[in-house]
Amino acid sequence: MLHQEEQHLEQSILYDSDSVYGWISILLHWFTAIVIIILWFIGKSIVNALPEDVDSQRQLHVSIAASAWLLIVARIIWRLRSGHPHVRGQTLFIHRVAMVAHYAMLVTVALMLLSGPVMVWSGGHPVSIFGWFSISAPFSESETTKAFAWFIHSNSAFLLMLLVLLHVGGALKHLMFHSDDTIARMIWPGKPSSGAK
Ligand code: HEM
Ligand code: HEM
Repeated sequence: MLHQEEQHLEQSILYDSDSVYGWISILLHWFTAIVIIILWFIGKSIVNALPEDVDSQRQLHVSIAASAWLLIVARIIWRLRSGHPHVRGQTLFIHRVAMVAHYAMLVTVALMLLSGPVMVWSGGHPVSIFGWFSISAPFSESETTKAFAWFIHSNSAFLLMLLVLLHVGGALKHLMFHSDDTIARMIWPGKPSSGAK
């Protein structure tokens, strides 16, 4: 009986419940949040770099993005599969707004993960990871495809930053003006509260 209870507690700490995030979601959130913010700034520095620095900045951006690619995809699939814990202490309307913003961020991230490699490959280059190994293009060079992928990548980057600013602003608002556990529950798995859905 005790063994079963311990097992249940371990599971609820690892996986999400209706009202709390588990360790898998928490670790995936913070790891990918850091990587995405770094990628965003390096991506911007490609566009603003001196001509002699453009290639090395692009190489760094592509290498980090390609290394984290699978984990970011796993993070998106994980959220889709495990659903979304209820935003606590909020009206149904606010819960829905937060949820839509979360899913919109994941959609823009997915668009960036797809358009990035397409942009590199359609430019006639392999996706090279720190020069250790490369993934060659599965299709031939095309200026039109490259321009389209660039359009998607660039506009998704803009939209993602707007959403992240809104998201971080919302999280800080909770920290400063509400006495709830919005930030705390994304740092440490709490006790599932019954009937919070
Ligand atoms: C979520 C992940 C990613 C983020 C947040 C991100 C962010 C950015 C940003 C902000 C830019 C500059 C766009 C602009 O200001 O118009 C950029 C450019 C670029 N990104 Fe990404 N990126 C991501 C994933 C990838 C991936 C997976 C690849 C390829 C494997 C990639 C390849 C590139 C390339 C080649 C450019 C520069 C194009 C050029 O001007 O030559 N990115 N990225
Ligand atoms: C660095 C500042 C960040 C802070 C303080 C922060 C904070 C939080 C908090 C407190 C939650 C839980 C909200 C709830 O009650 O459901 C959350 C969830 C979420 N955050 Fe962030 N976040 C940050 C960065 C990011 C970034 C850069 C992304 C970009 C993709 C992101 C995407 C998400 C998503 C999709 C969720 C929903 C749950 C999940 O799938 O992980 N966050 N964030």
